[in-house]
Amino acid sequence: MKNNSYSVAVLGAGNIGSAVIERLENLDNEIVEIDLKSVLVSDISKERTFNNDVVTDNFEDILNDDSIDLVIEVLGGVEPGKDYIKSLLSNGKAVITANKDIIADCGNELVQLAQENNTCLYFEAAVAAGIPVLKPLIESLRGEDLSRVTGIINGTSNYMLTSMEEGSTYEDALSTAQELGYAEPDPTNDVEGIDAMYKAMILSLICFGATPDKDNVHTEGITSITKEDFDWASRLNKTIKLVALIDNEDGGFNARVHPVLIDTKHPLAAIRGALNAVVVEGENINQLVFSGPGAGAAPTASAVIGDVLSACHQLSSNQSNWYPLRSQKNDNKNFDDVFSSWFIRLSVTDEPGVLASIAGTFSQNNVSIESVIQEGRGEQAELVLVTHEAPEKDMQNSIKQITSLDSVTSVTSTLRVYS
Ligand SMILES: NC(=O)c1ccc[n+]([C@@H]2O[C@H](COP(=O)([O-])OP(=O)(O)OC[C@H]3O[C@@H](n4cnc5c(N)ncnc54)[C@H](OP(=O)(O)O)[C@@H]3O)[C@@H](O)[C@H]2O)c1
Repeated sequence: MKNNSYSVAVLGAGNIGSAVIERLENLDNEIVEIDLKSVLVSDISKERTFNNDVVTDNFEDILNDDSIDLVIEVLGGVEPGKDYIKSLLSNGKAVITANKDIIADCGNELVQLAQENNTCLYFEAAVAAGIPVLKPLIESLRGEDLSRVTGIINGTSNYMLTSMEEGSTYEDALSTAQELGYAEPDPTNDVEGIDAMYKAMILSLICFGATPDKDNVHTEGITSITKEDFDWASRLNKTIKLVALIDNEDGGFNARVHPVLIDTKHPLAAIRGALNAVVVEGENINQLVFSGPGAGAAPTASAVIGDVLSACHQLSSNQSNWYPLRSQKNDNKNFDDVFSSWFIRLSVTDEPGVLASIAGTFSQNNVSIESVIQEGRGEQAELVLVTHEAPEKDMQNSIKQITSLDSVTSVTSTLRVYS
């Protein structure tokens, strides 16, 4: 580190890496002077949009170059990036990464490694890309006891749900998302909630000091949502969103990802298309809403550049960047014990006593019904129930028993209701 001038290496020059390099090359020198010393790629023969002289395919060149202060990791995947970050931090280099998979996997360990080596690690772009949400959580809100964090943190699924709300089928919404480049040819990670799960794991660490592993984050995606669910949601003045929900109230800590019916007046209902949002709640702050572009090269590069400036500032003051991480205050709460109210849509035979037998089944499981709508369809009827809040295990038992009632032709959809 020399005055206001820093030597930087970038690992990866793909979609995000090339946008980051372009921003580094055009940074305002009055803020900080960046000397781009090295860029790691796998294929050095590829044509690049930047000076080819800095390209290398040998990570050791970067690791062992004492003049490099700061390294930006934008390779993608867990390996070799995870090992590279560990080696860099151990060598005292500051690291910035956009990689949610690595931070979800071992963020806690990496933060500690940075602290032990008196250097810094930043990963703003790993959650909600262009929205600066981690820094306020780590710094501005560090003195607050947070109670709940709810995020729309997967742009692809939110784009698809918005299209379905506007009338598309699931299949049409997916193929348009793929045409527009929002969804990968294999969309599994987005539509099954896995991408949101990784980000929920990072938010769990930052907001609550909790390090749930993948198996402890109940994860459901959007593949069973239909256009008809949206028609019903609209009749109830609600819409459907895939959310990551992390709470740490009296009953304990729990992180989960699943679709919810949410009131149209809630700020998350207004988050449309590929946008992301994170709602943070706590006693003193009531509710804060961060929203904006959660993906794309330019917004992601913006988050990385913000981290570069923070890291340079940190390096110049020779401090570790992390306030002590929050420590987990409450025990983990099993998902079976999480309370939700439910929207349940059933196809039933239209005859006397059907509603009574369904209500009786709920009652045996201590679940009470808040409202019922029944619509006749010839010999069949459609029954839509909204329950009061009940523990997950009681609801799952009720749904299993109702499915086996003779009068119930099918349980068409079940969705938790956000409150
Ligand atoms: N896309 C978004 O909106 C978004 C948002 C937030 C965070 N991110 C994260 O940003 C990261 C980068 O994503 P991306 O879309 O830019 O990926 P990408 O387009 O696939 O680019 C990967 C780059 O890394 C290089 N690379 C891969 N494996 C390598 C290895 N073993 N050794 C050396 N170089 C290697 C590739 O080299 P070649 O050029 O030679 O192939 C390429 O330049 C990911 O962690 C992603 O999750 C993305």
